Amino acid sequence: MMNNVFKTFDVNYARSQFSFFQLKDQADIAFFDNAAGTFPCKVVVELLSQFYLYNKVQPHSLNALGQSSGEQMDNGRTVISQLLGLTEESITLGASTTQNFNTLSIACSEFIKEDDEIIVTEQDHESNIGCWVRLAKQNKLKLKFWQVNAKSGELDLADLDALLTENTKLVSVTHSSNIIGSINPIREIADKVHKFGAKIVVDGVSFAPHSWPDIVSYGVDAYCFSTYKTYGTHNGVMYISPDFMSELTPQCHFFNENTKAWKLLDSSGPDHASIAALAGLGQFFNTLHLHHFGNSDKSLYEKSQEISRLMHHHENELGALLLEGIKDLPVRLLGKMDMENREANFSLQLLGKKSLDLCEFLGKRDIAISNGHFYAYRLLEKMGIEDLEDGVIRISIAHYNTLDEVKRLVGALRDFFD
Ligand SMILES: Cc1ncc(COP(=O)(O)O)c(C=O)c1O
Repeated sequence: MMNNVFKTFDVNYARSQFSFFQLKDQADIAFFDNAAGTFPCKVVVELLSQFYLYNKVQPHSLNALGQSSGEQMDNGRTVISQLLGLTEESITLGASTTQNFNTLSIACSEFIKEDDEIIVTEQDHESNIGCWVRLAKQNKLKLKFWQVNAKSGELDLADLDALLTENTKLVSVTHSSNIIGSINPIREIADKVHKFGAKIVVDGVSFAPHSWPDIVSYGVDAYCFSTYKTYGTHNGVMYISPDFMSELTPQCHFFNENTKAWKLLDSSGPDHASIAALAGLGQFFNTLHLHHFGNSDKSLYEKSQEISRLMHHHENELGALLLEGIKDLPVRLLGKMDMENREANFSLQLLGKKSLDLCEFLGKRDIAISNGHFYAYRLLEKMGIEDLEDGVIRISIAHYNTLDEVKRLVGALRDFFD
């Protein structure tokens, strides 16, 4: 049967997997604030509500309900690791990426000692800077900033070469910028960092919604992203390589240290239901894969990668249309004017107008975007944004956006500047 094999992404089918787009009175809202959090797909919310409605008891407690809730929660963890092609032991599920980075930095406090060096970037979200700044202060480490180019916001690999030394213990860098959208060459960076025997920690929060991460191929020591930005529930996923884990100080209760490896950095009691509901992401990718490619015995990891490539291609088409539509407007695009090696996140500095006014203008036309610094405070400051509260406007596209929505957005942007 070849009739359900699509060369391109079937956006209408993808939208049918989200309850939001089925609501007749809401379907006209063009939602471009996806970098702040995507809609969760229907199956995830169904699992979440089933857990809360019928299974909200201590997982693995010795009764039928407890057994069922325990199985659902274990399954959520299993599915996430299968989607990533990683072992369950290597994955910590925390409340958010900020919490995971905090836990990780504290867990480094015995491994990284006085006079050791760590490198953070000016391009990152504060979530992956502040915790390392605090660790550096507390442990008297030498903290180095990998600076961005003030005009483009880009990181230059030659600058990293100049910062790395025999004393470097850790480099922390974003996979892609939540402001300028550029994708950093993580494999290349990891190879450089490892030559000095240092560890590399990567923030994949901005990257993952656009390309489901292929963490195995990056060769990194730690990688974090947030599932509320990848159509799931509000959790942070943190991969830690076994080698890195062996250097870290456990952050769990002492009596859990020898139970499960994934408990070592599990510093809080999780929301059982939201972990259980992550299993829905597996169903989501499976369903999309079946629709686009037909029956297949490929692994969840392979399926998610294939679907993700289609999504990325679709987003790139939409992004290109947006870039074409804004090229003569009185705005400064922070980042590149083309879609090469970037994802569909676009930040604009308005010349002579307030960002907030544009958000309100678009809001009245049922187009959702946001303004501000998006916690990439240091990056925007370096790039010369003076009013950081009003900040830039950010248009972030997800796979479920359509060409028509982008056309509507471009028309509205042009009307605003008329
Ligand atoms: C690039 C980036 N890193 C980290 C974070 C923090 O993630 P969380 O909200 O899960 O703590 C965000 C949140 O917006 C982000 O955009």
